[in-house]
Amino acid sequence: MRSVTRYREARPSLFASLFVVLAVFVIGVRGLRNVSIDIPLAVAAGTTVNMSCRYDLQSDTLYTVKWYKGPEFFRYIPKEMPPIRVFGELGAKVLQNRSDAHRVVLKDVQPNHTGKYRCEVSGDSPSFNTMVVSAYMYVASLPKGDPQVRVEKSRYAVGETVRGNCTVPAGNPPANVTWTVNGEPVNSSLVLNITDKLGVNQQLMTIAGLDFEAVQEHFNNGKLHIICHANVFHLYKKQADVILTEERPRLASVLGTRESSYIGVAAKRFEDWFFLNAVITLLLCNFR
Ligand SMILES: *[C@@H]1O[C@H](CO)[C@@H](O)[C@H](O)[C@H]1NC(C)=O
Ligand SMILES: *[C@@H]1O[C@H](CO)[C@@H](O)[C@H](O)[C@H]1NC(C)=O
Ligand SMILES: *[C@@H]1O[C@H](CO)[C@@H](O)[C@H](O)[C@H]1NC(C)=O
Ligand SMILES: *[C@@H]1O[C@H](CO)[C@@H](O)[C@H](O)[C@H]1NC(C)=O
Ligand SMILES: *[C@@H]1O[C@H](CO)[C@@H](O)[C@H](O)[C@H]1NC(C)=O
Ligand SMILES: *[C@@H]1O[C@H](CO)[C@@H](O)[C@H](O)[C@H]1NC(C)=O
Ligand SMILES: *[C@@H]1O[C@H](CO)[C@@H](O)[C@H](O)[C@H]1NC(C)=O
Ligand SMILES: *[C@@H]1O[C@H](CO)[C@@H](O)[C@H](O)[C@H]1NC(C)=O
Repeated sequence: MRSVTRYREARPSLFASLFVVLAVFVIGVRGLRNVSIDIPLAVAAGTTVNMSCRYDLQSDTLYTVKWYKGPEFFRYIPKEMPPIRVFGELGAKVLQNRSDAHRVVLKDVQPNHTGKYRCEVSGDSPSFNTMVVSAYMYVASLPKGDPQVRVEKSRYAVGETVRGNCTVPAGNPPANVTWTVNGEPVNSSLVLNITDKLGVNQQLMTIAGLDFEAVQEHFNNGKLHIICHANVFHLYKKQADVILTEERPRLASVLGTRESSYIGVAAKRFEDWFFLNAVITLLLCNFR
């Protein structure tokens, strides 16, 4: 009789454990869910960054929240006093009085803090459910100064090839450069990243070339407007421009000018291609 009772008592608890196991690991109704990380894609060096990790514990209680960039740099355990512990060089950047179970605030971030950040959340017993989410953050060292446009000359005739450069001061990552002619986008030719030998971090200066044939439609009242747009994420958006004047042909026939400049374009493009290859080879050799 006793043994039967024991057996009956044991059954519910066995079912209960089974239910917990099923609920937590198979159905996942009860425990931690919906973990997400929210960090900026890009920030400027020297700034303070808010990073957050959201989660829904449902009926679970929190055991730990850990933050990693490679190794762990932040740990939050609500049962401990104080609940926050920090580790390493990145841990020293944590503003502890502004950080908690959902948030880590880092001060004075540097370009070498670029990388993948992970947030790991664990529920308490009995489930000890753990979930990890990650996101990438760039810490950009922005170009110190404005872009500059240079063109070969200030007057162009229809049919001639307009050539110029836009130079953006060194930064990391290098700026993206785009061109517009009278507001319309044109392709860059010959975009180069030149390593700045003076920089402590790897700083890259960008030189973007412009190379297009001037047609009559480009000139409004004899003027052509070129803009170089330089962007580093949403953090640096600057432009530089130049206005060219139409040169009306006086002696040579228009057809003659066109033909010779077409040959000029083809020849120059070929030269540029070789130049670009030479620079890339040089850069690759330097990186090794
Ligand atoms: C997860 O969280 C996001 C926003 O935090 C919310 O929009 C979404 O509905 C949540 N999903 C579930 C299953 O709760
Ligand atoms: C970080 O969070 C604090 C408090 O929530 C807020 O005042 C501040 O503007 C945030 N900073 C950034 C860069 O989002
Ligand atoms: C937070 O701590 C920093 C030093 O870690 C201190 O400079 C700052 O005043 C504190 N802020 C608040 C609101 O307590
Ligand atoms: C990042 O660079 C700073 C100097 O800007 C240096 O003090 C720090 O040790 C570097 N950290 C890492 C993880 O390399
Ligand atoms: C553009 O840059 C290249 C490479 O530095 C240089 O050889 C060329 O003369 C420049 N062109 C102009 C118009 O400044
Ligand atoms: C840029 O070049 C590509 C391929 O060479 C071409 O498909 C595209 O139309 C060009 N864009 C402009 C704005 O000229
Ligand atoms: C210049 O650098 C940027 C960012 O590192 C890269 O996306 C781009 O392809 C590089 N351009 C050249 C010509 O190497
Ligand atoms: C440059 O442009 C590409 C394509 O739009 C983008 O993915 C990249 O993040 C940009 N880089 C910078 C430094 O703004």
